Amino acid sequence: QTVAFAASGGLDSCTVTRWLTDHGVKVVAVTADIAQPDETDFGAIERRMRASGAADYVAVPLHDMIAESGVEVIQFQARYEGAYWNTTGIGRHVIVAGLVPELRKRGIGVLGHGATGRGNDQVRFQLCTNMLAPDVTVYAPWRDPAFLARFRGRTEMIDYCESHKLPITASKTAPYSTDANLLGLTHEAGKLEHLDCPPWFVTPGMGVLPTDAPEAPETVTVRFEEGRPVSLNGKPTTPFQAIQQANAIGGRNAVGIATHLVENRFVGIKSRGVYEAPGMELLGTAYAYLLQLVLDRRSRDLFDHLSGFVSKQIYQGYGFDLGTHMARQALAPINRLATGTIRLKLYKGRAEFDAAADVPHQIYSEANASMEAIGAFDHADSEGFLRVLQVSARALAAHGQVVA
Ligand code: ARG
Ligand code: SIN
Repeated sequence: QTVAFAASGGLDSCTVTRWLTDHGVKVVAVTADIAQPDETDFGAIERRMRASGAADYVAVPLHDMIAESGVEVIQFQARYEGAYWNTTGIGRHVIVAGLVPELRKRGIGVLGHGATGRGNDQVRFQLCTNMLAPDVTVYAPWRDPAFLARFRGRTEMIDYCESHKLPITASKTAPYSTDANLLGLTHEAGKLEHLDCPPWFVTPGMGVLPTDAPEAPETVTVRFEEGRPVSLNGKPTTPFQAIQQANAIGGRNAVGIATHLVENRFVGIKSRGVYEAPGMELLGTAYAYLLQLVLDRRSRDLFDHLSGFVSKQIYQGYGFDLGTHMARQALAPINRLATGTIRLKLYKGRAEFDAAADVPHQIYSEANASMEAIGAFDHADSEGFLRVLQVSARALAAHGQVVA
């Protein structure tokens, strides 16, 4: 029996690999290279995994896939429950999509992962694998009674690794757990479970806390063409570079750092997360301003529905189903209109509109919006418009349908 284990190279990966290997399972450790800011030394991960018994090791380069997915999350403004940029949620889709071809190449029929039995990640691994490779079995040690009988928690895993002389980097006092990719860091569990522990407790990995940000504001200019970021501060970028540079610029100004959310997990419990997604927040905010210049109120209304729908789809692991596909089709005409240059002012965690230019499809018109008597909108024409509205408003009053 061979298992391809989606390995981050952390404590779980080492423990599971050793434990499975000792039980006669051949483990191929596969790490998705999704530009995780906390662990870029894949050579070191490989050494840890091989030392833990892995028969083989593969790092799968997925920079473009994670960046493209990030752009799509921005286009949909797909923040879960209005706050969380879904960075881990979309990351799981990318991991599965990136690893499946590796399983195919090697004829492996089992994908293992280290998500727990209480969270969203197990759902995402499961559903994404079931949809993209229906014949592949998903194995989660955290739901395996044999594994649970041996390991009740981190401390026992650390003891196990130490007694087997596995080169783990974890310590027994890790204050919370972090998941990472190009798009952001998600911190959960441990001390963060206590609501008297503030979001500022986390040590940011992608920037600084607002209280540590510079006194002087910084401006940044983002150019979008047909829904895609194409340059930052006038310099051309690929989507990957745009997100990477926006992470640095946003992060040093505390933009999108230590965002707090008590959220509703798919499995029905509430959990608490502290999030870092400086580039997503920077680019996503600029994009939101651009959209608002372009969309009329009816397309805006539909967009808001698509946005809310897709944010849940990604969060729950349904990013590859028909519903998401349909939403993508519906979004395409909006993306084609989303061209323009937006300047933001960043200051101590805030990203505010500063200026817009070269937005060929913007509906906003200075002349039409003006209080001055210019443009096609003649104030006197509103006299008739308001007389029409007045009929129904007075009808409500006459029939007891006004509540003051
Ligand atoms: N609550 C977030 C989500 O469901 C983050 C979960 C990430 N896990 C972690 N160990 N930090 O997407
Ligand atoms: C986990 O439980 O493995 C991480 C958190 C989540 O999946 O929601």
